Amino acid sequence: MSLITQSASETTPLTLLRADDLESWLAGQTAATRAWLERLQFRAKAGQVGWLAAADGQPAGVVVGWDGEDNLATLGGLPFKLPEGAYALTTPVTDLQLLGWGLGAYHFDRYKNAEREPAELVIPEGNDAEAVSNLVAAVMLVRDLVNTPADDMNPEALALEATQVADTHDASCTVVVGDELRDSGYGAIHAVGRAATVAPRLIDITWGEADHPRVTLVGKGVCFDSGGLDLKPAAGMRLMKKDMGGAAQALGLAQMIMSASLPVRLRVLIAAVENAVAGNAYPPGDILQTYKGITVEIDNTDAEGRLVMCDALALAAEETPELIVDFSTLTGSARSALGPEVAAMFSNSDEVAAELAAAAARCDDAVWRLPLHKPYGYMLDSKVADTVNSASSPMAGAITAALFLEKFVDDCSWVHFDVHAFNVRARPGRPEGGEATGARAVFEYLSTRYG
Ligand code: BES
Ligand code: MN
Ligand code: ZN
Repeated sequence: MSLITQSASETTPLTLLRADDLESWLAGQTAATRAWLERLQFRAKAGQVGWLAAADGQPAGVVVGWDGEDNLATLGGLPFKLPEGAYALTTPVTDLQLLGWGLGAYHFDRYKNAEREPAELVIPEGNDAEAVSNLVAAVMLVRDLVNTPADDMNPEALALEATQVADTHDASCTVVVGDELRDSGYGAIHAVGRAATVAPRLIDITWGEADHPRVTLVGKGVCFDSGGLDLKPAAGMRLMKKDMGGAAQALGLAQMIMSASLPVRLRVLIAAVENAVAGNAYPPGDILQTYKGITVEIDNTDAEGRLVMCDALALAAEETPELIVDFSTLTGSARSALGPEVAAMFSNSDEVAAELAAAAARCDDAVWRLPLHKPYGYMLDSKVADTVNSASSPMAGAITAALFLEKFVDDCSWVHFDVHAFNVRARPGRPEGGEATGARAVFEYLSTRYG
């Protein structure tokens, strides 16, 4: 753990300094310190590190430049920039800034040993150690799940992870597997997942008191997306181990909610499949019987995410919860529109969307709302079924995908996140690789609404 409540060994004092305050701060230092920091060209630029030496040559502390913002970046770059050891802040920080340190200390070490340990930070008295640690653990879970390659994070392994999260919090968890899916009416999940060596699954977690408001999370758990028979080109397939990033976020968010004991009745539905190629793979032109009874003509087998999600969403909507939130790495189009670092948000509720956007801004988890523009619905018309799975036009791909999902949620209040779930570059507090995008925003929103 990079965030510690107290330190056995000596700690190095760590001071945050704004560029504007540098001059007055320097005035209170010794001439030697001033000369030393000048020689380092320390300008208190965001994340810049300056070491202070005591008269005996021992490190007396470290100053770190700060841009005055309250976000993950304030401390997020330090765990691997500072040498190993324990540090203690002399400046008060927010829980969000502290979270940045915890998240910046992440390293995916399942297959390759880390070169070093992250530096440790003593959690100040004034901060909520438990809340921050819970968030760190949940985001790390999301990252580990996404970063783990498909062979080790197949539908069975994903179901095992979900079961473990459920067990830890005394939640109940059931899993429908393989042909049982077809027999139970989940024709879309079954069709997408049936060609894989590891059978498809529908994971169903329930937690909390029955009379609390019902919140249901739904996650796209495509453990690998080859594109199916309409195979993806190599470059497009390269990162598709992360196509269960929605499921990872639903699980991570569930863990945040349960460890914070939010007074909700939580349900988590995860469609875990691999979109594989084999003799029994579902072909373009097939017409699927979905759980809701809507028939779907397959235009492109690479639009598999909305298929597995439509069955899970229809199941979620059956009990009309107060809110349904889904996370899906659904379209390349969302990434084209917003890039990998901003989660595309869709909602049929203006009120929820506005409050969620505000919550997202408070916790440095970028989301941006895109419209469920009804007139584009014509792009999903089929001549032989109730709908096609993918639009004939490449335009507004994230919107038409969201409009497809909307057919399955009835009148429930619903938020859909089309996410990348992956940092393509490292930023302070956000290492390259799997990432929770949108999940912390939803947690912040739910904490405000129900906490
Ligand atoms: N998993 C992909 C979406 C994706 C691609 C997310 C790249 C992030 C990066 C999804 O299953 C998919 O293949 N979508 C297609 C839909 C198309 C066939 C209508 C897409 O976006 O190209
Ligand atoms: Mn696909
Ligand atoms: Zn996919």
